[in-house]
Amino acid sequence: MDEFSKNDIIEILKDDSKNDWLFSLADKIRKDYVGDNVHLRGLIEFSNICKRQCKYCGLRSEDKYIDRYRISKDDIISYAEHAANMGYKTIVLQSGEDEYYNTDLMCEIIKGIKNLGVALTLSIGEKTYDEYKAFKDAGADRYLIRIETTDRNLYKQMHPNMDFDNRVRCLKDLGRLGYEVGTGCLVGLPNQTIESLAEDILFFKEINADMVGIGPFIPHPHTPLKDEQTGSFTLALKVMALTRILLKDINIPATTAMETLNPNGRIIALQSGANVVMPNVTTTEYRAKYEIYPNKICINENPDKCRGCISAKIQSIGRTISTSQGFRVRK
Ligand code: SAM
Ligand code: SF4
Ligand code: FES
Repeated sequence: MDEFSKNDIIEILKDDSKNDWLFSLADKIRKDYVGDNVHLRGLIEFSNICKRQCKYCGLRSEDKYIDRYRISKDDIISYAEHAANMGYKTIVLQSGEDEYYNTDLMCEIIKGIKNLGVALTLSIGEKTYDEYKAFKDAGADRYLIRIETTDRNLYKQMHPNMDFDNRVRCLKDLGRLGYEVGTGCLVGLPNQTIESLAEDILFFKEINADMVGIGPFIPHPHTPLKDEQTGSFTLALKVMALTRILLKDINIPATTAMETLNPNGRIIALQSGANVVMPNVTTTEYRAKYEIYPNKICINENPDKCRGCISAKIQSIGRTISTSQGFRVRK
């Protein structure tokens, strides 16, 4: 039984008595459809400057405590080169919505990284169709932009001056332009319902997402949500497992936020439906400053240490490190 209705999904999310069955089923579908290879994507967090005010995020523009930084084009490309030399086949560029990196500058960075022979994913927020087209023409392969929640009211509460329909428009434009499209949601936002999490999963299926990242919400002390409860690791894992069961052949990361809540979180996720890990390849000096939530893992480590650490963990559970660029293979 792996074709779940909305009601089935709600029942499963509400009932913890069948979790072992759920995680095993997701693990089996992962193995059957995407195999034992784990794709490592090298993540460069190149700017923590953001014009938005997402209520949950430590990078929001109103935060006065954070030490802001921007990494230069040449340094971004040299970090990517180091990552490629370490064996990474995909680079992910992520940042706040920072307009300093205009379309021309982004295209120069994209071309510089694509010269290294790697796949390139962008995660730099909401842009116009023409901007997405320029990045695609410059060589970008994939784009990550989480819908965060499909509950319109909650979306509105969490994202001042942002528009749910524009977020959806971004996802549609990216698909139309031929990107591999990644989305996802936060689990455990204040006032979020189980019903809306079920809708989130069905939304991923409806838009035929190629990648879905699920992260528990972790309150940041400098945000308006500082006194709210931390999201549940188990519930986030269940949303992830259900996503694997419904969208069998997609790429699903074991997210950093999961490991922040559980010291073995990424390995548990890899055994419950995930097949991707995104180790940080930014140099140590910037890591602590990209504080989207507190107690982020690996902030005192360096790229080589993280590569070795995660590779050993993956191999310890009998999985292999992929040597391909890890595009979605439709089955
Ligand atoms: N600015 C881009 C965007 O919002 O799409 C990319 C960077 S943003 C920091 C990446 C992701 O971080 C968001 O999609 C959000 O889900 C996640 N995030 C932000 N604050 C978080 C928090 N307090 N707990 C867990 N995840 C968080
Ligand atoms: Fe900016 Fe992204 Fe954080 Fe929102 S989630 S404040 S857009 S970095
Ligand atoms: Fe960074 Fe383990 S992945 S130290």
